Amino acid sequence: MPTEELQRPHIIDIPEEQQGAVYEAIGHPTATKRFYIESYGCAMNFSDSEIVASILGTDGYSATSDIFEADLVLVNTCSIREKAEDTVRKRLEYFNSIKRTNKGMIVGVLGCMAERLKKSLLEQEKLVDMVVGPDAYRDLPKLISNLSSGDKQINVLLSREETYADISPVRLESNGVTAYISIMRGCDNMCSFCVVPYTRGRERSRDAHTIVKEAQDLFDKGYKEVTLLGQNVDSYKWLDTSKNSVVTFANLLAMVAEVDPLLRVRFSTSHPKDIDDEVLYTIAKYHNICKYIHLPVQSGSSRILELMNRSYDADWYRSKIDRIYEIIPECSISSDIITGFCSETEEDHQESLAMIDYAGYILSYMFSYSERPGTPAARKLTDDISLEVKNRRLSEVIERQRILSGQLNKKDEGKNFEVLIEGLSKKSDKQMRGKTSHNKVVIFDVHPEYKIGDYANVYITSSTTATLFGTIIQ
Ligand code: 5AD
Ligand code: SF4
Repeated sequence: MPTEELQRPHIIDIPEEQQGAVYEAIGHPTATKRFYIESYGCAMNFSDSEIVASILGTDGYSATSDIFEADLVLVNTCSIREKAEDTVRKRLEYFNSIKRTNKGMIVGVLGCMAERLKKSLLEQEKLVDMVVGPDAYRDLPKLISNLSSGDKQINVLLSREETYADISPVRLESNGVTAYISIMRGCDNMCSFCVVPYTRGRERSRDAHTIVKEAQDLFDKGYKEVTLLGQNVDSYKWLDTSKNSVVTFANLLAMVAEVDPLLRVRFSTSHPKDIDDEVLYTIAKYHNICKYIHLPVQSGSSRILELMNRSYDADWYRSKIDRIYEIIPECSISSDIITGFCSETEEDHQESLAMIDYAGYILSYMFSYSERPGTPAARKLTDDISLEVKNRRLSEVIERQRILSGQLNKKDEGKNFEVLIEGLSKKSDKQMRGKTSHNKVVIFDVHPEYKIGDYANVYITSSTTATLFGTIIQ
């Protein structure tokens, strides 16, 4: 069950053990130098690291998973909660201990922490040589080269245009079956608790044709599932100047779904205020668009939602849930929930617990509120709920979700699901692991006629709160 430990905004299934993932060596025929990269936080960061790998590839670098052979050590960071930043600081201290014996090694901080802390990472904390914000990755070769002058380097300029649309990501840590495609950057929503609008800048959408091309290239290479990524995918909007028409998120979903019926399409994250009927009907229409929506509620209390500046109230959210089940009856829904936001009462908390049951979430990512400097909540509200109460409420939402996930998984027993096989089970090489369209993990015995990347029809025989177990039926 995902918990507070998962430091990732805008979810998407990055297993806990992959947080801080380092990447296997990727040979590059002309590479003379090695970079090592660790990624923390959301799927967007993991996806950005693949863009960084591509940019560094053109500068003579290839990836290594051995930090001791690296010329360049990068950490792609997350600022969403204080704990995420603490983890990165510890890693930077470790990198610096290696640097004492390997003086030539360059240490760089990328991503949200770079953007939030800017120069102070170079000046006060003195832990790094280079600080590069999420919109400045094209500048990496120049910054690296400038380091030879002896001066530390920084570029944290945010852009209103950068989408890295033309860059072909180098797939790192790939299972060869599923991949992320970034469709937009930034966020204009200004939820009061959230640092993302300040670290990732204004929202902008990527050229739809480059997205479809990336999906097609992945499919041609054997990939079977793409996840379209953005902080708020439903507000995707791109003007096709050649046709003088606007491509909406629903249009984009259909375009990617039409790459091939065997290419599954997922997306994340949806904002309840922006997901509309057009998107829901598109999901319903295409078999290969997964019947799964991550629709963070954040709180079940209308009073707290107002303070969070989420632009919907609890009734409005419930009506959105009703609409999803009406248009896509087999859809599964998941959520993000924050406990102990400013002034949250026991009644507010009870409303969050009730929302879990109302919405029937198959899973939730649950966090206790962590005040982030500079956000509207930090400026205007008081972080007045004690850590003890925040954590107690967090345990209660986790428990409520755990019970519900178990009940929903039990209901899947005795049913057949189309499962995309993603790899071997982590516990046994005699078993395989895959996912249903509605985003449930299924474990089943290896079958001689099925390999990784195939679709299998699996009959569910048993379940736990986190996993379905079954057997392939032909
Ligand atoms: N404190 C706790 N959780 C937060 N999130 C975002 N900002 C904060 C914060 N300051 C959570 C929200 C968001 C998810 C990605 O992280 O639930 O949807
Ligand atoms: Fe943060 Fe809200 Fe934007 Fe998500 S939608 S990144 S929670 S401001």
